[in-house]
Amino acid sequence: MIQLIDQAREVTKNAYAPYSNYHVGAALLFQDGSVVRGVNIENASYSVTNCAERSAIFSAISQGKNMKEVIAVAVVADGVRIGSPCGVCRQAMAEFFAPTTPVYLSLMQGDEFTTTSVAELLPFAFNKQDMYE
Ligand code: THU
Repeated sequence: MIQLIDQAREVTKNAYAPYSNYHVGAALLFQDGSVVRGVNIENASYSVTNCAERSAIFSAISQGKNMKEVIAVAVVADGVRIGSPCGVCRQAMAEFFAPTTPVYLSLMQGDEFTTTSVAELLPFAFNKQDMYE
């Protein structure tokens, strides 16, 4: 777990966040031990910004990863207290990860982390089962 948080910490250094100066990194752990990471990427047109969690998800899909094999997620931010994924990222996580998937939230330094899950972050999530049998 700490190793996955360390992966997220390392990639956070690549964040492109000149507007908020709030650097975020996310790491997805797969069954085979591989890790795919992502960072927040901001834009002068603010709404174009992509969060670290979605960058990691989109990167993994682009690499052809089987998202059913994600077994844990870590998100790190260089904030003043442990953060929490935004609503858009919660919906993106609900699309690709099992509800029970653990999500570890931490900061750039220290041993402190919060453990939650995809279902806890977005209970009663809208998903494709709501549209199709
Ligand atoms: N951000 C993330 O990357 N993940 C989160 O869970 C919360 C917010 C980013 C988006 C933006 O670049 C900056 O943090 C401030 O909102």
